[in-house]
Amino acid sequence: MKLRTIRDIKGLRDKKVLLRIDANVPVKDGKVLDEFRLWAVRPTIEYLTGRGAVVVIIAHLGRPDGKRNEKYTLKPIAKRLSQILGRVVTFVPELGGPHAKRLVEAAVPGQVFMLENLRFDRGEESNGGSFAKKLSQFGEVYVNDGFAVSHRAHASVSAITRFLPSYAGLLMERELKILGGLLAKPKRPSVAIIGGAKIGTKIGLIKKLAAAYDKVLVGGGLINPILVAKRFEIGNSLLDKVDQATLAPILKLKNLVMPVDVLVGNADKPAAPIRSVPIATGTPFVICRKPEGIVDIGPRTMLAWGLLVKRAKTVVWNGPMGIFEVPRFAHGTMALAQAIASRAKGRALGVVGGGETVEAMYKTGMAKWVDHISTGGGAMLEFLEGKVLPGVKPLYGRMKKIV
Ligand code: 3PG
Repeated sequence: MKLRTIRDIKGLRDKKVLLRIDANVPVKDGKVLDEFRLWAVRPTIEYLTGRGAVVVIIAHLGRPDGKRNEKYTLKPIAKRLSQILGRVVTFVPELGGPHAKRLVEAAVPGQVFMLENLRFDRGEESNGGSFAKKLSQFGEVYVNDGFAVSHRAHASVSAITRFLPSYAGLLMERELKILGGLLAKPKRPSVAIIGGAKIGTKIGLIKKLAAAYDKVLVGGGLINPILVAKRFEIGNSLLDKVDQATLAPILKLKNLVMPVDVLVGNADKPAAPIRSVPIATGTPFVICRKPEGIVDIGPRTMLAWGLLVKRAKTVVWNGPMGIFEVPRFAHGTMALAQAIASRAKGRALGVVGGGETVEAMYKTGMAKWVDHISTGGGAMLEFLEGKVLPGVKPLYGRMKKIV
């Protein structure tokens, strides 16, 4: 089935476009701290405004639980987006009152608006039809460029598509093309690297990747339940409790690659000594005891995994390898960022996603050397797991009847 994109919209001049983006970015004291997701939607906004459309941007920030909360206002985001676009983004501090409606109706071609945080209204997260209908009055067509929020069945990504003709933005199109390609036929040797804290949310993904990829490297907190299941002692390491039955299929995977060594240290005292400990076969084996815990992958693993990445033709990576927010425990994550960047763009297809993973790409200065950085965290994981995303499905095939 064909994806309907903004290139299929006829007669954009003067047309009101309701544009969903993911602007869920860290904001502190009115300052946007990470603007990667905002730059990522620029091509779509430029495409639309360049053809004379009036663009009404809708987005969410944080989890304000259906209530207005100034901490989560989109005002600073509208301001930063104005600077990124080099054109005024008029912030409208409401979600559908008569004032907002009058402003948009009087707009001239190329004008851009941003409404207030969608999650100030309960109807957003409940996927409410009446809230979606209220939003639909701001557009003649709807464009979803918020891939990163498209795993949520919320009014602005799902119910809205019943009220307006719906299309994918350029970022959405790119995400679906590249991430879809990762699943279809990854060029071999293929390596998937999965890290992060919670294995419970990644079991399906690991199984799916193990079926399609030559090797699946697992690091970060994900390895801890596996080590415990193999009767290793891991002291104070972060432990996501999963039952044995859930973990069992993972333990059987032949192409799952565990680190050969780990760094152990005291997460509460980052300046305290750290040491590397091999993960020896044969149980029981003490990796560390409290107050120590596993804080990163070890140097031998960094080298071995770096070599696997350097031989690969496809590399996909999501999730940090250790306690990334502490600089001393971030070396494994940073080393992988560098290895992937040195391989991507030509010799291999390198795709990276997930908040801290993306941060590592930017911190190492390597972001521009990978083929694609996904804006999706949870959405990327669910998509790669093979789930049908509620915000993506309505963008394919023939348009459904609009109510
Ligand atoms: C994200 O940041 O991953 C998306 O915007 C979804 O946010 P949520 O997890 O609060 O629904």
